[in-house]
Amino acid sequence: MRIIVGITGGIAAYKAPELVRLLVKAGHEVRCAATPHALEFVTRTTLETVSANPLYCDLFRGNATETEHISLKDWGEMLVIAPATANIIGKMASGIADEPLSTLLLAMPPQRVLMAPAMNSQMWAHPAVQRNLATLRTWGVRTIGPDDGDLACGSSGTGRMAQPEAIARQVASLLQQPHPLQGERWLVTAGPTYERIDSVRFIGNYSSGKMGFALAEALAEAGADVELVAGPSALRTAHPRIHRTDVESARQMYTAATEAFPACRGAILSAAVADYRPETCADHKLKKQGDQGLTLSLVQNPDILATLGTMKQAGQVLVGFALETDNELQNAESKLHRKNLDYIVMNSLRDTSAGFGVDTNKVTLLAADGQRTATPLLSKQEVARIIVETVTRHKE
Ligand code: CTP
Repeated sequence: MRIIVGITGGIAAYKAPELVRLLVKAGHEVRCAATPHALEFVTRTTLETVSANPLYCDLFRGNATETEHISLKDWGEMLVIAPATANIIGKMASGIADEPLSTLLLAMPPQRVLMAPAMNSQMWAHPAVQRNLATLRTWGVRTIGPDDGDLACGSSGTGRMAQPEAIARQVASLLQQPHPLQGERWLVTAGPTYERIDSVRFIGNYSSGKMGFALAEALAEAGADVELVAGPSALRTAHPRIHRTDVESARQMYTAATEAFPACRGAILSAAVADYRPETCADHKLKKQGDQGLTLSLVQNPDILATLGTMKQAGQVLVGFALETDNELQNAESKLHRKNLDYIVMNSLRDTSAGFGVDTNKVTLLAADGQRTATPLLSKQEVARIIVETVTRHKE
């Protein structure tokens, strides 16, 4: 595999050449990337010698047409930051790119990053560092360490970088992670739909798309090729195995989803689809009519989930979402059977930290065979992983 080792300016940088040596010995091709401060602790010559590759440590080297942080990002299958200072953790969490390594980090999908933090134990315990790390973890960044022990500042406590052997072992186990969904295609719908009233107005809802995008990422991480049909959303997709189709209205989503479904092993429909649309859409901006009110006539949209339920063939898995306020479980269960689903993910609007717009969710997954899985309040990424693990295990 092709691995980038990123080195930042902490005393543990002296262990980075040993990590590079272990990775090379394990058969990987390694390139090093260093911050300017890292080079106060370890030299370019050392890093280039142990990796047998040129060091990336200057944003403006080379010719003007070469964007090395992008080509290096494309080259590297994994980026291991060892040591990771509080500074680089904070920069990544804030999206700051002011030197070569932080710029590379901003280009790299977070799921491909492993960080080995190293710092003084009080810095490690600081709420800013812990908050930043929690943010990185919700994006899929993995971490190893820090360990307990004597620290360079003379004190002892938590803050020592994990040993190079332990980091190399972690790299090996992450790279060996199975891709159980390799060769499978999955459909995901996400986000809201907008139903046009006239050329400047629409009926919409507060869905952000976060849950659906997290599901698409989790499926792609597990090896699947993902057809993501997304309503209007500011979110970005990073994974190369996600193929995204942007749509606006329920009818456009219906067309894209019904076209994609026959070639898919399964579908997870998390979009908040408008049940109704205005019967007519004016091609100009509607003017106020004196002080009279306005009555909109609405017609029902096609039910994408129910349609896929009728199209479903043996071996296909269909998963819907239910956002309920009353008689939650009963309503979700009846939806599960009515729409011929294999699973339904129930969100309760009673949970204030779950549902639209927020980064966390708490769901109950109901299976057609009666099994139930309830999650605690977790990041949407973690909830997505649990849903994906459960529904992709489904066998006829
Ligand atoms: N859904 C869909 N197409 C629609 C409406 C909903 O695919 N036109 C899907 C959603 O993506 C979600 C599930 O149906 O997976 C649940 O949507 P919801 O609006 O809660 O359910 P309804 O079937 O509309 O039931 P009700 O309005 O009676 O609660």
